[in-house]
Parts: sequence; structure tokens; C-alpha cells
Amino acid sequence: MSETVREMIPEADLNARIAELGAQISKDYEGESVYLICILRGAAPFACELAKRITVPVTIDYMTTSSYGAGTVSTGEVRIKSDVEIPVEGRNVLIVEDIIDSGNTLHYLLDVFKNRNAKSVRLCTMLDKPERREVAVDVDYVGFTIPDEFVVGYGLDYDQKYRNLPYIGVVEL
Ligand code: IMP
Ligand code: MG
Repeated sequence: MSETVREMIPEADLNARIAELGAQISKDYEGESVYLICILRGAAPFACELAKRITVPVTIDYMTTSSYGAGTVSTGEVRIKSDVEIPVEGRNVLIVEDIIDSGNTLHYLLDVFKNRNAKSVRLCTMLDKPERREVAVDVDYVGFTIPDEFVVGYGLDYDQKYRNLPYIGVVEL
């Protein structure tokens, strides 16, 4: 392989920020339970770390949506490839994503869960690239806002590589 990865967010910074998000979420949902819906595959490491930092009762399930394939540009089209098994009706859904780019995925999922009569639907993303937004999305919890660069690590891939990196990096081709 010819590309290299330059570190953008160190592991320690990620973990510290996830602890803060967990504390905030625990406070916001005090007296309630929260149903984390992890968007596979990229959000899995983040969702696991986040769940460990939440002190209110937690349920976790997983959903797979259509991805970019091997490229780095969004098609704008979103599909559910595999759905959650635990019903969302009457629950406090917190959608957990790795990164918000165009906003298409979360805009679509927000509608899906509202239509399924969740008690509440909020969004939590590890990373946000606001410069790339095509559709407006209200994000409740953001780990880090980053510039418009293609990042990998902590679950994020480039052609299925680098998901295992413990930090966020930029691919340099
Ligand atoms: P959106 O629908 O354009 O907001 O796309 C969100 C999805 O695109 C994320 O869940 C990622 O899977 C993927 N994605 C967007 N930007 C990046 C990136 O910089 N690195 C890796 N994956 C990305
Ligand atoms: Mg994703």
C-alpha cells in the first residue's frame, strides 16, 4: 500500500472527550434509560467506549446503512441494509455515528425513528465535518468538529482499512 496516515486526534484526546460526552448524556437522561443505536461498522468502537461512560440504564442495538463503497464521495442515497432488533417505540433513542459528512445518513435515520414512535430521538457523533453538509441536521452531541479532510481510525475506514487505529488520522495518498 502506498498511502500513509498522519495523526489528527490522539487516542488520549478521544478518550477524554468520550468521557465528557458520557457524563453529559448521563446528566441529560437522568431518571430515564437510553437506547443507543450504533451505525455499523464505523461507529462501533466509539459506541462501545461511550456506552461504558454512561451511568443511566443503556440498551444497545446495531444498524447497517449503505456506505460509500470503496470511494470517498457520498452518493447521497441512504438505505438500511440491516435493521435493529429491539423495537424503538416509546424509547429514548440516541443514534451513535462515527462522522457526519453530507448529513444524508442522519437526516434519513432521524425520520425513520421518529416515524417508529420513539419517545425521543437524539444524535451523537464522534466527528463532524460541517463544511461538507448538504442537508441540515441538528446534532445533539459532537465529539470533535474537524476540517474537510478524509479521516480514518477509531472505526473509520478507507476501503475497509485502518478501522483498528486507536487515533483519528488523515490518509495521505
Ligand atoms: P453522510 O451521510 O455523508 O453524512 O455520511 C456519513 C458516513 O460517510 C459516515 O458514517 C462514514 O461511514 C462515511 N464517511 C464520511 N466521511 C468520512 C471520512 O472522512 N472518513 C471515513 N468515512 C467517512
Ligand atoms: Mg458510517
